[in-house]
Amino acid sequence: MNDTPNRYGVISRAFHWLMAVLILLQFMKFFDRISDGEHWIGQTIVPTHGSLGLILLVLVVLRVLWAVKQRGQRPVVEGALATFAKVGHGLLYLCMILMPVTGALFVLGRGYPLRFFGTPIIPGSGTQTDWMIALGNLHSPIAWLFLLLVLGHVAAAVYHHLALKDDTLRRMLGRAAG
Ligand code: HEM
Ligand code: HEM
Repeated sequence: MNDTPNRYGVISRAFHWLMAVLILLQFMKFFDRISDGEHWIGQTIVPTHGSLGLILLVLVVLRVLWAVKQRGQRPVVEGALATFAKVGHGLLYLCMILMPVTGALFVLGRGYPLRFFGTPIIPGSGTQTDWMIALGNLHSPIAWLFLLLVLGHVAAAVYHHLALKDDTLRRMLGRAAG
């Protein structure tokens, strides 16, 4: 269950891979730029975007609490680029928090209700709220930054596995010893 210095435990791995899949689904929203969303991705995956985003908000809060509890016994990022990797992981966490928050403000700021699979959980004000719109408008630029970070992160994982041939990927896959 718990992490060890050699590998991530089952809970950390479940958070990592479940959230990675959900975030990749969220990135499908970029395809709304094609034909104003009038295509199969827009019509099947994207309608759940706000609700999945709210699930991700709950998951990231739980994940941060779990990471704090595991501090001191998780794998330590080592090597010449350790600081770079730590900052990268920190920025990934920041994006995971800011994306759902700015997404919700985007909707609420325009006076619409915040819905969870159809059920309004925060009622719409019916009026525009400027500060919410201003923060909500950061949703798209942060999404692009997040995409770049994830691409860099995956490239780093593949580089560790194939070029450096170390246990970095294995310890997140549960294949590393102890
Ligand atoms: C981790 C959570 C989330 C991720 C990764 C994410 C990702 C994205 C991406 C990639 C886009 C397309 C941006 C673009 O084309 O420039 C987008 C747009 C959008 N998202 Fe999210 N999102 C998340 C959460 C939410 C939430 C919780 C809501 C609302 C409740 C939301 C509402 C929207 C809206 C309304 C747009 C369209 C914005 C526009 O037309 O400019 N998102 N999101
Ligand atoms: C949206 C996608 C992703 C996000 C947001 C993400 C985020 C993170 C974060 C924050 C960490 C630090 C450990 C933690 O606190 O959980 C981490 C570790 C890791 N991730 Fe990802 N990740 C994503 C996708 C991937 C993918 C697709 C791969 C593999 C190809 C991958 C491979 C790894 C590896 C190997 C580690 C361990 C790094 C180490 O121990 O130094 N991640 N990831």
